[in-house]
Formats: sequence, structure tokens, C-alpha cells
Amino acid sequence: MLRWGLRALADSGIARELIPRVPITRAMSRRFVAGESLDDFVGVVRETRRQGMDVTGNYLGEAITDPARAGEAAEEYLRLLDRLRDEGLDVNVSVKPSQMGMDVSGSVLLANVRALLARAREASAFVRFDMESSAYTDRTLDLLRTLWDEGHRRIGAVLQASLRRTAGDLEGLLRIGIPVRLCKGAYAEPPEIAFQGAEQIRSRFRELMATLLRDGTDPAIATHDETLIRDGLELARESGLSPARFELQLLYGVRRDLQKELVRRGHRVRVYIPFGVNWYPYLMRRLAERPENVLFVAGSMLKESPLGTLFPGARGLGRES
Ligand code: FDA
Repeated sequence: MLRWGLRALADSGIARELIPRVPITRAMSRRFVAGESLDDFVGVVRETRRQGMDVTGNYLGEAITDPARAGEAAEEYLRLLDRLRDEGLDVNVSVKPSQMGMDVSGSVLLANVRALLARAREASAFVRFDMESSAYTDRTLDLLRTLWDEGHRRIGAVLQASLRRTAGDLEGLLRIGIPVRLCKGAYAEPPEIAFQGAEQIRSRFRELMATLLRDGTDPAIATHDETLIRDGLELARESGLSPARFELQLLYGVRRDLQKELVRRGHRVRVYIPFGVNWYPYLMRRLAERPENVLFVAGSMLKESPLGTLFPGARGLGRES
């Protein structure tokens, strides 16, 4: 129930305007978001690289309906690509199509994405197109196929195991050779099109992961679910896929212990690091994935505030997973 409420709040226009103004939610965002500026982001990227992990950078934003704002978001990505290249950092970004103008028009979207890919090509950067709610699935896959037909090869897709259609989509992308990141899916979707139970989604993820690891180009497994990660590593071993040939991807601020452990065991780990001022819907999706996070973040903030000494019980609130 709380999960649904948080996901619904992520898409609410009024909440999107009001909640980010509340200082406590801004402080909460810092657990999952590198910061609001490019400098904040670069600092976190450097630290993550020092820990032996690769990075995919995301400038936060989505559901843009104003062409000027979509153009500004594309410009910010150009600055991001230049900065990563100039700093000699791993250049890999994740972009939301609705941020580049998918809700404005096909021509605005293509103009922004082509500008981004031209700059990415100069920097030998890889560009992953995040998958948003099911309202965008067909259009996002069409976009990827169009770009692939234009000759872009440093691009990749994301598929969501929770959607019933995904086995077919995966087969289609594998046939073309487009690299895929497999995740569970972060959006609230109705039962007609999406599996709802955690076990059902997990078993679906496992089947799709087996196909992706066997037939995919540069497969990326994006989950913090330890059972699935263990199964994925087992599948890779069975099919003779060395750790260098696939990536485990995790989100900034989630299961930092597991991220380090996977690196220690010799796996390729890529961390998805978002930054920017439009962090509100992203934060709400992270809270919805694990509603205890509301308590965890509130607890750690209380602990660090003068109230923490007055109410030592607050220290027990929430535990990092
Ligand atoms: P699950 O939610 O079952 O979590 C497993 C365990 O991980 C939990 O028990 C908990 O310990 C920990 N955990 C998970 N989420 C947490 C959180 N927010 N805070 C604290 N602990 C948490 N989705 C999408 O729809 N489109 C996309 O393009 C992407 N892209 C993407 C990239 C990368 C690199 C990752 C890791 C994830 C995505 N996602 C995504 C999000 C994905 O669909 C999914 O919502 C989250 O990864 C949470 O699902 P898990 O697979 O981790 O399992």
C-alpha cells in the first residue's frame, strides 16, 4: 500500500512541485543522488572509480513537454560528456527518452538524441536509453531501432522483467545485436500487462537473464537482489562466460556493501549515478522499492541532528540493507 502510494506520488504533478521544497526530502535525496551540480556528480564518480567500479551517469529529468526544456536537458548531457572526457573518466551515460523530448514530438526527440550521440561518438561514450513506464516502451524500442539503423553502435536498451511482453522484446533486440540491461521495472503497471508478485517477477527475471547471458552482446544485469545475482553468476559460469564479458549494475546508494563485495570477488560492477535538481520522482521510486528507506533516511538524519542525543531510540530506526 505504502509502495503504491510512493509510486503514485512520484507521478503527481502537485507533489512534484511542492515536496522538493521541503528541506527534509532534499536531504533524503542525497542518499540516492550525487548532488545537484555537475561538480557534485564528478566528485562521486571519482570516488566510485577509486573503489574499482565503473559508472553510468544520469542527469535527472523526465516527462518534459516543453521543447526548450528538452533542449536544455540535451545541452546538459553534452556538458556532462565533455566533462567526463576531459577528466579522463569512464564515459557512459543513461538517458530518459521523455527527457529528450519524446512527449514533445518525434522531430524534437531525434534532434536532441542525435546531437547527444554525435558528441558521445567523439568521446567514444556509450549511451544507454533507460526504460520508463509502459506508455513509452514501444516508442523507446522504435527509437533504438532507428538509431541502430543509422549506424549508432555505442547504444543500449533496458528491458523490464515485470512486463509480460519482455520475452518478445528481448528476442527482437538480441536478433539485432542491441546490448540490453535487464532490470525488474520501477513503475506501477496494471496486472493486464505486468506481473505483480515478487516471486513471479523474480522467476521471470531468471529466465530472461539466462537468455540474455547466453545470447546477448555486453549483457548487463541490473539488480540488488542477491538471489538473482547469485543465479546470474552461476549461469555465466555454466555457459563459460568470463566475468569480463558481462556487467552487474547497481544504483548509487543502494547496497554499497554488496557493490564492494562483488568488486572484491572480481566482477565488473557499474554504478548508476544520478545528479541534478529534478531528483523528486527518482527519489520517490527508490523509496517505493523499499519503504523502510523512509525510516532509514529519517533515522540517520535524526541521529546526526541534536535531536539524536535527546532521543537515542531514534538510532535504531532503519538499517542499511
Ligand atoms: P528488489 O526491489 O527486490 O530489491 C532487492 C534487495 O535490494 C532489497 O531487499 C533491498 O535489500 C535492496 N534494495 C532494492 N532497492 C532498494 C532501495 N531503493 N533502497 C535500499 N535497498 C534497496 N527500472 C526501470 O524501470 N527502468 C530502468 O531503466 C532502470 N534502470 C536501472 C538501472 C540500474 C543500474 C538498476 C540497478 C536498476 C534500474 N532500474 C530501472 C530499477 C529496477 O527496475 C528496480 O526498480 C530496482 O533495481 C529495485 O529492484 P531490485 O532488482 O534491486 O530488487
